[in-house]
Amino acid sequence: MSERTLVLVKPDGVARGLVGEVISRIERKGLKLVALELRTAGNGVAEEHYAEHKDKSFFGELLEFITSGPLVAIVVEGPRAIAAFRQLAGGTDPVEKAAPGTLRGDFALETQFNLVHGSDSPESAERELKLWFPDL
Ligand code: CMP
Repeated sequence: MSERTLVLVKPDGVARGLVGEVISRIERKGLKLVALELRTAGNGVAEEHYAEHKDKSFFGELLEFITSGPLVAIVVEGPRAIAAFRQLAGGTDPVEKAAPGTLRGDFALETQFNLVHGSDSPESAERELKLWFPDL
């Protein structure tokens, strides 16, 4: 059964010219792009997107970073798209948790600047897709 997930190429990925690399890996995996937009997130969207982290010590810097410049928001679709993209991304900590061959394992060094975001569950995907692409 097909499902949708929200992918963000975060501001570090856009600034480093890695948008094409991320999209290429999504497409090579066999997943489909349903919607894609370059935009700079405002504080409102950023706070809602990361609501579950609002009590974490890094929340402030997370908001500052995610709103710091353009990012690419993508709706990705396919069989088990949520897990499939998380496999492509690798673990949150790009050194300790992301294996070589994953996006974070290949291209990132710091947990904050970990290149991409992917929804982590069907519930998160539904919430995040509504937040970023309300008209879809
Ligand atoms: P993401 O998958 O977008 O979900 C939450 C984000 O918080 C995560 O990727 C990281 O970018 C960030 N994050 C998680 N842990 C830390 C940390 N210890 N310090 C800074 N940022 C973090």
